[in-house]
Amino acid sequence: MHNETVGTVLITQKQISEKAAEIGRKIEEDFRGESVVLVGILRGAVLWMADIMKNVNLDMTIDFMSVSSYGSSTKSSGIVKINKDLDTDIEGQNVIIVEDIVDSGRTLNYLKNYFMNRDAKTVKICTLLDKPEGRKVDIDVDYIGFTVDDIFIVGYGLDYDQKYRNLPYISYLEE
Ligand code: IMP
Ligand code: MG
Repeated sequence: MHNETVGTVLITQKQISEKAAEIGRKIEEDFRGESVVLVGILRGAVLWMADIMKNVNLDMTIDFMSVSSYGSSTKSSGIVKINKDLDTDIEGQNVIIVEDIVDSGRTLNYLKNYFMNRDAKTVKICTLLDKPEGRKVDIDVDYIGFTVDDIFIVGYGLDYDQKYRNLPYISYLEE
């Protein structure tokens, strides 16, 4: 994709912060009286992670992981390479994975199994965006900000070639 340009605003910062407040209330209801560990997936989830954590008034710790798809980008094996692992022992903990977008579902499918194998008590998924048309593996997504069409999204943490993460809204690429 050469000379890419960013399209119009799809989702505004205001819409995102309102949605984060709504999802934060749901998480509080679902985990009332319990503690949670929010695990943000670097780097795309940073802004959404900040929005969610400040809207959840529970006994909370946070951590981050950095992962990338293993092998060539054209052939997704479903195997995920861990670039930065957790610093937290999550055994017996309620883990909420905070992700930017669920596309094929392979990354989250891998991470969910990874946390279950480390004996987390529960593992939930909270994503800013869901792209259901891209799905290759069946996965339950517990908290979804917005559903988007099968187009290439940038902004609010999401990148194209590491650019556009700083846009304070969700947009898409046009050629
Ligand atoms: P999955 O394993 O196919 O669900 O991959 C999800 C990951 O692919 C996300 O964490 C993003 O890093 C990346 N991704 C998928 N769709 C987009 C997009 O439209 N824009 C930017 N990154 C995307
Ligand atoms: Mg990502």
